[in-house]
Amino acid sequence: MRHLLEVDDLTPSELTAVLDRAEAADPDPVLAGRGMALLFEKPSARTRNSMEMAVVQLGGHPIPIRGEEVGLDVRETVEDVTRTLACYHAAIGARVFDHAHLERMAAVDAVPIVNMLSDLAHPLQALADLLTIRQELGRLDVTVAYVGDANNVARSLAFAVAMVGGRFRLAAPPGHRFDEATSERVAAVDGSTGQGIEVHDRPELAVEGADVVYTDVWTSMGQEAQAATRLRAFEGYTITSAMLDTMSPNGIFLHCLPAHRGEEVAADVVDGPRSRVWPQAANRMHAARGLLWWLMEQART
Ligand code: CP
Repeated sequence: MRHLLEVDDLTPSELTAVLDRAEAADPDPVLAGRGMALLFEKPSARTRNSMEMAVVQLGGHPIPIRGEEVGLDVRETVEDVTRTLACYHAAIGARVFDHAHLERMAAVDAVPIVNMLSDLAHPLQALADLLTIRQELGRLDVTVAYVGDANNVARSLAFAVAMVGGRFRLAAPPGHRFDEATSERVAAVDGSTGQGIEVHDRPELAVEGADVVYTDVWTSMGQEAQAATRLRAFEGYTITSAMLDTMSPNGIFLHCLPAHRGEEVAADVVDGPRSRVWPQAANRMHAARGLLWWLMEQART
């Protein structure tokens, strides 16, 4: 049984196959007459709507479930919730606080499990990011400068970029960078230099010559109590239009959204000419459809 908990659960060629399916005009109705459970322990605009629509476009019926309705390890064990949902659904998507819960769901191995965001990873976002880069720049062997917190979005993007032969630069203050295990795991899938992540102290150094500049909020869901400390830690890391003047001439700006204008990004960047955040948001649905189509094919074989 194949699951998607992190991007490197796919091989590079499988990743390309998912992107190709995301752009295919006539998807196979691989979920016809079947359901997909979509469990959300945290809020969502893009992930919930893109996943629901992707399931519908594949002929299936999505059922969104709030975290408290099933109560992972509170009302019932993670394993029993997974077994129960697998009685009715062809696949389960879950947005969870604790990545270990996804690993336990996948270990049940009843139906494919899709990570719709955990504290560790956001692979569905990274698939949409790659799709956007391929459409906008016509290639994937690009240099991506990620400025900000090395969070779940950054981690999945680092895997995705490394796996398709790109170069991944991170600009973040000490204490907000990847741990050694993540850096080593990214280097292990790096199809370009084998070096993995390039780390910079200053955003200007990461952005210079980059094809893609990317950021996310400095305070992720569940970290609200650290907001003031984080604002201080990331002082000087706001992406400005002057910063983007040094990137590659055709370079683009991406953000997984929601954006905090005036914090991690200036308003004239996220709303400016290099910004592709709306095609990127739209690609969440296409990437989700491509992934589910591919996963259902794997489940059949
Ligand atoms: N980018 C993203 O995952 O958005 P949502 O939190 O709205 O799903």
